[in-house]
Amino acid sequence: MMKKRIVVLTGAGVSAESGISTFRDSGGLWEKYDISEVATPEAWARNQDLVMEFYNQRRKQLYEVEPNAAHYALVKLEEKFDVQIITQNVDDLHERAGSKNVMHLHGELKKVRSSVDESLVYELDGWELKKGDKCEKGSQLRPHIVWFGEPVPLIPEAANLSSTADIYIIIGTSLNVYPAAGLVSYAPPNCPIYLIDPAMVSVSHIPGVKVIREKAGKGTAQLAEQLLNETS
Ligand code: APR
Repeated sequence: MMKKRIVVLTGAGVSAESGISTFRDSGGLWEKYDISEVATPEAWARNQDLVMEFYNQRRKQLYEVEPNAAHYALVKLEEKFDVQIITQNVDDLHERAGSKNVMHLHGELKKVRSSVDESLVYELDGWELKKGDKCEKGSQLRPHIVWFGEPVPLIPEAANLSSTADIYIIIGTSLNVYPAAGLVSYAPPNCPIYLIDPAMVSVSHIPGVKVIREKAGKGTAQLAEQLLNETS
């Protein structure tokens, strides 16, 4: 029998228990840094050192953290489901946990790309991107990150994938950032939608959503167990 498809949209909260800061919680990254100084094309044009340093620190931290129970629960779901993860996160914790299908909407910390030809993407060796690190066309390499104000190239693919869901799960995102926050509206009518987040995320645009007010580790493990038990 064909496996049912679970589409999962994750945000910073899925990695919070691994020790990676979220963006908009109190003490989050956007309280410590100004978005316009570190995460926009204008910031890159103005001060490459500052932008590189911001992402170098994020990348360095990635080597010090491990996937958590939430990432592993999503891997376990693959025993009985076709699991497709759409993540807003730039960390690689889903992959390191063992998830097979992971789409990174907002880019990947461990990759860098040419600043003149976006098709030239490279795995960075180690955590540090330096001034003078160049692509094969001779331009400075930049973080492979979708900055505020830039298009999100994978959105059409993510919307298509969302429209094929039998079950939709949203984990650890404040749903503040579009177009990612709108993807769930592509889920087919009558597709069960679950949202796992310890905070009161605004869900008025998601009719029928079942809200699980737990941290990702506990909430995802519980939901995965339930879904695996329901499916023979
Ligand atoms: N488990 C689950 N969720 C958690 C946990 C936890 N342990 N801790 C915090 N959260 C939730 C918060 O309640 C919040 O709803 O994670 C969410 C994090 O929201 P944001 O910080 O806004 O992160 P996210 O939604 O992923 O941001 C979207 O914004 O800055 C950009 O490009 C960046 O991809 C990012 C996008």
